[in-house]
Amino acid sequence: MQFDLWSKGLATLDVECIVAGVFDEYELASETRALDAAAGGRIKTIVARGDFAGRMGETLLLTDVPGLKAARVLLVGLGAARSFTRKPWRRAYAAAIGALARTRVRSAAIAIERPAARELDDYYFGRAIAEIAGSTLYRINDLKTGKSPPLPVLERIVAGPVRSAGAVSARRGFAHGNAVAAAMTVQRDLANLPGNVCTPVYLAERARAMAKKFRALRVQILDEAGIRREKMGCFLAVTQGSAQPPRFIVLDYRGGKSERAPVVLVGKGITFDTGGISLKDPPAMDEMKFDMSGAAAVLAAITFAAEAALPLRVVGLIAAAENMPDGRAVKPGDIVTSASGQTVEILNTDAEGRLVLSDALHYARRFEPAVVIDIATLTGACVVALGAHHTGVMSNDDTLARDLVAAGLRADDRAWRLPLTEEYGEQLKSNFADFANIGGREGGAITAAAFLAKFTQGLKWAHLDIAGTAYHGGAQKGSTGRPTPLLSDFLVQRTRRP
Ligand code: BES
Ligand code: MN
Ligand code: ZN
Repeated sequence: MQFDLWSKGLATLDVECIVAGVFDEYELASETRALDAAAGGRIKTIVARGDFAGRMGETLLLTDVPGLKAARVLLVGLGAARSFTRKPWRRAYAAAIGALARTRVRSAAIAIERPAARELDDYYFGRAIAEIAGSTLYRINDLKTGKSPPLPVLERIVAGPVRSAGAVSARRGFAHGNAVAAAMTVQRDLANLPGNVCTPVYLAERARAMAKKFRALRVQILDEAGIRREKMGCFLAVTQGSAQPPRFIVLDYRGGKSERAPVVLVGKGITFDTGGISLKDPPAMDEMKFDMSGAAAVLAAITFAAEAALPLRVVGLIAAAENMPDGRAVKPGDIVTSASGQTVEILNTDAEGRLVLSDALHYARRFEPAVVIDIATLTGACVVALGAHHTGVMSNDDTLARDLVAAGLRADDRAWRLPLTEEYGEQLKSNFADFANIGGREGGAITAAAFLAKFTQGLKWAHLDIAGTAYHGGAQKGSTGRPTPLLSDFLVQRTRRP
């Protein structure tokens, strides 16, 4: 998508459509009033007739409005003027782009009001628009054989108003927003693929293809023998029941001349989670194809860094495996030795994410990271605690936790910190090994993090539980692309450090 800015002179802009806002109860927004003056009051007449009330997300396409170069005006409802903050602004923008995508319009100028500057500065204005356009125009890579609806042809958006002093920031926002959108598409396409297509080997191939595309990106793939050489006993225990060979993926992005310690991102890449011998119940088990969303988020974050050419070093580690029941599968009570040397009693084979992550987190040490962040659809308990609205953050470092939560707020991809004090770790006691892989029903999202904490001592580490936020179930079933906006913002902020 190509983005441009307008400041004034909408009436003479050379675009196929102008999008104008109307507040609740037939009130033209101020940008719309200016446009209407050029149109000799035609828009006001139509609205005053009672044909367009301005309710949030409502749209109406007008054609051949006089006085304007554009052949069409798309009215979009902005809801109540009093409460027109960033959130309704985003909804109105998405509604407008959604409506444009159902037409043959290739270029549009959007004249929707901007919320107060403290809610949305010029950089985030540009970035949000590009992100919204990307996610609204996203189409699921389905395998339907019927005739699919025509694809959107929209290719150019002129947004505003932006004063000339803010143009550089807004354009930087467009570039970053385009990169976030591209990254979210990478994540969503991968996560939406079925488990029989998106296998550990497939993920590794995709990582390889990414590394071919970007000069600053290197990839290294460990096969089962390589994983064994690293003595990743927890990872191997998870994969041993599957016919699909595992892969350990290492991506190394070195942007600019950055010699600084890297940000290491670690992704849970369970391409299908049956639960193993501790088999899951059948309802919605298909959704466990999304159990590699953490891995997809790592590939997405690195895509963002590379597309936006961030001057940073970012290392991505992905533990990719399938969790299956089988004659060779790991059993409840089995004890394995992790790469860190610690022993683990596997009391529930469905708590497999923390097992593969533990070995990947240990591997992260060799990079002497500035910070390590793992991303995982780790627990149903996190969905119970926070629902689909917030990603769970657990960390051994207050600054890192605060930075992640702040990035989520700025990116409208929110996260909420849960406490991770030592009591939770005590719930992992085992009579037979250093600890067990489960800690009982209470505080389930946190005991999972407490397990990971056993492998991240001395590192600045945070864990993002995206079990509730990475995908929708039900009629909207599909990957959301979260927490890529949050991670992208976090990486941008890291470039500002001295
Ligand atoms: N992948 C699941 C977590 C999950 C559950 C993600 C629901 C998305 C929606 C994870 O591997 C798992 O099975 N966790 C168990 C842990 C339990 C056995 C301690 C869970 O949450 O039930
Ligand atoms: Mn599981
Ligand atoms: Zn899982």
